[in-house]
Amino acid sequence: MIYLDDASTSFPKPPSVHEAMLHALRDVGANPGRGGYASAREADRLLYETRSLAADFFGAADSSRVVFTPGCTYSLNMALKGLLKAGDHVVVCGRQHNAVVRPLAAVGPAVSNFDWDGRGQFDAKAFSRLLRPETKAVVVNHASNVDGLLFPLDELRDAANGVPLVIDCAQTAGVVEIRTGERDVVCAPGHKGLWGSAGVGILAFGKKIELEPVVVGGTGSFSEDAGAPPAYPDRLEPGTMNLPGIAALGAGMREVGAVGVANVFRKKMALALDACERLSKIRGVKIYWPADEARRVPLFSFTVEGLDPSEAADLLDRDHGIACRSGLHCALRAHVELGTFPVGTVRFAPGYFNVPGDVDAFAAAVGEIAKKR
Ligand SMILES: Cc1ncc(COP(=O)(O)O)c(C=O)c1O
Repeated sequence: MIYLDDASTSFPKPPSVHEAMLHALRDVGANPGRGGYASAREADRLLYETRSLAADFFGAADSSRVVFTPGCTYSLNMALKGLLKAGDHVVVCGRQHNAVVRPLAAVGPAVSNFDWDGRGQFDAKAFSRLLRPETKAVVVNHASNVDGLLFPLDELRDAANGVPLVIDCAQTAGVVEIRTGERDVVCAPGHKGLWGSAGVGILAFGKKIELEPVVVGGTGSFSEDAGAPPAYPDRLEPGTMNLPGIAALGAGMREVGAVGVANVFRKKMALALDACERLSKIRGVKIYWPADEARRVPLFSFTVEGLDPSEAADLLDRDHGIACRSGLHCALRAHVELGTFPVGTVRFAPGYFNVPGDVDAFAAAVGEIAKKR
């Protein structure tokens, strides 16, 4: 199989990730924060070490404000539900995923959309006009999982003028350098660009952010109180932590760090540029990727004229052994904006471990499929 669905989850994982998970399961075993005996202390150490690593990775000034969650979707729920209530106002930027759309619908703030397709400069004045006195957050998809549109965070942070930024880094963690600002809430998955396993995510937030817990329970601390403990990270980490997953995430972050985020980006971008160039020469293939290279991450969508995207992905899989995702990719608005609703697109999402030969096979397969139509 040629795996080209890195935007969904990265595969394969480095061997050190497998080993770290196995080590936590086989050799550590105990529950962090719950015991004073040797293996529980080792579990504490592993958790602390990975938290510090994550704080460094995301440039968070204070590692106690780095919280492990069950995934990016959970991080986003914790951020949005921990910051907002009905009656508040938020400005939403970028091509949002349902991991943001649905929690916002559940909380019920008034929503203003700032639409920008990556063409021309980010219009800070137009953005500022959407801010209101009751605006409690700016929610931004750092990069679209459909067309790779990369949102300019620095310009947005300046224009937000002190309003907290909730940043969906599902497609950028481990691919684009991210530094957590003092009013930022960074939400990231462990299993995509950080090369960890499914079941772990990160929530990193700056010192000017306070988040209310949305899930409460035992933390191994302040057991005499019915309320959540006052201090982070315990306040936001109730219940037994996924130590094997956290250990694997630590190993993944170390691997990404050793390669270097910029080098990961460069290699994936070379594969995406090559694929884009070849597909753009095939009749009937339409590519969805921002024209401005500074505004995109290494993934794009495409359609083949006269062919349903799910059928195209099916042919890639069945006849060529190539794994690509098709459909709406949990991001309705992106397709409305790109004009690909209701059928969606096929996505080309290379990983760091793909090789140029994978692009050769992919481009030849798309060529064959398009010709048959
Ligand atoms: C842009 C975006 N946000 C959020 C998510 C949710 O991530 P997870 O499924 O890892 O919770 C995804 C998943 O693909 C995504 O692409």
